[in-house]
Formats: sequence, structure tokens, C-alpha cells
Amino acid sequence: MQSEKIFDTWTHNKFISNPKYNFSRDEILKVLPKTYIDDAYAVISSWEGYKPTPLIDLNKLTKNYNLNKIFYKDESRRFKLKSFKALGGAYAVEKISAGNKNITVSTATAGNHGKSVAWGAQRLGLKSKIFISENVSESRAKDIASFGAEIIKVKGNYDDSLKACINQSKKNNWEIIQDVAWQDYELVPKLTMSGYSVMIKEISEQTNHYITHIFLQAGVGGMASAVIAGVARYFKRIPKIIIIEPQSADCVLASILNSKLTKVDIKKESIMGGMSCGEVSLVPWQILKNSVNNCLSMSDDNIASTVTMLAKGEFSDDKIIGGECSAPGIMSLIMCCNNKKIKQSLGLNEKSNILLIGCEGDTDTLLYNRMISLGNEKLK
Ligand SMILES: Cc1ncc(COP(=O)(O)O)c(C=O)c1O
Repeated sequence: MQSEKIFDTWTHNKFISNPKYNFSRDEILKVLPKTYIDDAYAVISSWEGYKPTPLIDLNKLTKNYNLNKIFYKDESRRFKLKSFKALGGAYAVEKISAGNKNITVSTATAGNHGKSVAWGAQRLGLKSKIFISENVSESRAKDIASFGAEIIKVKGNYDDSLKACINQSKKNNWEIIQDVAWQDYELVPKLTMSGYSVMIKEISEQTNHYITHIFLQAGVGGMASAVIAGVARYFKRIPKIIIIEPQSADCVLASILNSKLTKVDIKKESIMGGMSCGEVSLVPWQILKNSVNNCLSMSDDNIASTVTMLAKGEFSDDKIIGGECSAPGIMSLIMCCNNKKIKQSLGLNEKSNILLIGCEGDTDTLLYNRMISLGNEKLK
């Protein structure tokens, strides 16, 4: 692979270890019970069009770093929604509506979660109201509307759209299907996470290799903690868990470092849009605080190049459509391998079987095409 030379310069921003690491299956499954996880798989695997997403072998990258296997779970192929989020919101809609056809569901979203809620409502013949801030692109809004949702645009940022959603939903008696938790609002976020855990059920059936390391992207921590709960439920051996975040929004890293929930003030939004969150959600934190081994942060540099290399099939025999939140998985592994001390401390060697989550495809097609042009320029 020509790209080896390019990788040599890739470095992380921060890398820390968790002083409170103490992985406990029981504690994790107290937060997200086995009954929730099992129900999510039973329900979602019965949906029309359900198929496990591919687990791709990044064989071209393995050789560079003397690792045994690198698996990439390709969520760009999740139903027609092109991200793992299809598993969460839509499942929560089904559970909360419980066969009632007369309810209206609502949510606030940066994009993919709202699409999942709208799709879930459409599948069941329910109405949906999706609140978005001015930061959400027109192409994402159109995409959500294509699932029959009414789009409600709100001035300000994501938090403002959430406030508006809560206010209007209370007034109109709409059921809020939110992926983040707040006081006395934990059931829906737990259902959403249970949906995400389906990825691990599938992986447990897609390979006989014991996974030794998982690199997990985090925004508010929902996906990462759901994957960890899936590991506690389905895996025989516990892998090392490394959380990855944009350096501008490293709220899991800051919270792990301080051993308590710590807000981060986002000064500049990262290109990794779904991961640009300043605060860990309450339910995920209960899982993440003791089960994460390490946290790593990185800049936006090289996201576009990685997206482009995925598209060209530079990491695997297959060409992969991976968006801005998929790239950091591969990048963080390369960054850890580039640093001898980190590589050694993580025990990354010829016996390692790595799992990366390719959490989204070209969910924002305009942005995706821009990244491909930029990546092609950079790789010239
Ligand atoms: C598209 C997308 N949105 C959001 C997230 C973050 O998920 P969460 O906010 O549950 O941590 C990711 C990946 O981490 C992602 O790929």
C-alpha cells in the first residue's frame, strides 16, 4: 500500500488511561439489562429487510502493523439509513408506541437519530415531528422529511432544538424519542442503546476470532456504551476498550480523567459532526466510567484522506463508503501503532484482533463528496 508513508505522520492529540478501570459484566448489565438487549435483537431481526451488516477484513492494513486481524463493521449498509442509528430510534419508537396507532413521536436531532425516528414512525404508520437546529444541513433535513416527518427548524444550536422539542411535545402530548438521558428520562435512551447492541450480537456470530481491542467513537457516549453492554452480554473474553473523540469535544476523555462527568466547552465544531458533543449522557456514563481502558483524541486533519482511502479500497479488498465518523476508528488505530509506547502498553501485536466500527456511510452526501475531492487533492 502506497499510503504507509502518509500514515507515518499521523499523531494523536491526547491519550489517557482510566484510573478507575474495573470491568464488571454484572454492573454493566444492571444498567442495560440482558432482557432489554435480547428483546432488541428479537424485534429488530424480525423487521422486513433485516440483514446483518458486513464485517470486513481490513487485510491491507493488518500487514503494515503486524497485527493479526482488523475487522470493520460496515454500518453504511444498515437498512437504507446508512448508519447504526437505524437500530436505535426506530426500535424505541416501536417499543414506546406499543401498537398504539394514534400517537405522534418527536425528537431533536443532528441528523441520523432523527432519520431513524422518522423511519420507525413511518414503518408503523405514526406521525413524527423532528426538531433540527440551523446547523443541520438542508440535505440532511430533506433526507429526514423523505420518511414522512414534519421538520421543525429551531434557531440556535442542538440544545435549543432539544428545548423546543421538549416544550412543544409537552404542550401537544407528543411522545419524545430522545437518545440522550436526563433526570427521570432514562427508558428511551436505554431502548435506543439496546438497539445499537445488535451490532455486537451480529459480530459474535460473524467471526470465531476473539476480539482483543475495540476502538469506539463517542459523541454523548450512547454507541460506545451500547457496544460495551453488547460485549458484556455476548463476548466470552473482554477486549481492551479505547474511546476516540475529536480534540475539540473530548467530554468522555475529560470525564474519565476527572472520574466524574465533566462538560467541555466546544469552541469549534469538528467535521466529525455526530461526535461533536460537549457532555456525556447520564446512562452511558454509568457504563463507560469503569469499563473504558483508554481515551484518545484527535484533530480533524486526515479525516478526508481516510474517507477517500476507504472509498478507493486502500485498506481492504472491498471499497467502503465510510463517512466522517467512520474514519476516526482506522485513524486512531494507526496513531496508536505509530507510537511505540502506546502500542506496547495496549498490547497491540501479532496476536491482536481489532474491531473498528464504521458507524456511518455517506449520510450527508454533499459533505461526503466534498471530503472525497479534498482527500483526492491531499493524496496526489
Ligand atoms: C453518525 C454518528 N453519530 C453519532 C455518533 C456518536 O454516537 P453517540 O452520541 O451515541 O456517542 C457516531 C459515532 O460515534 C456517529 O457515527
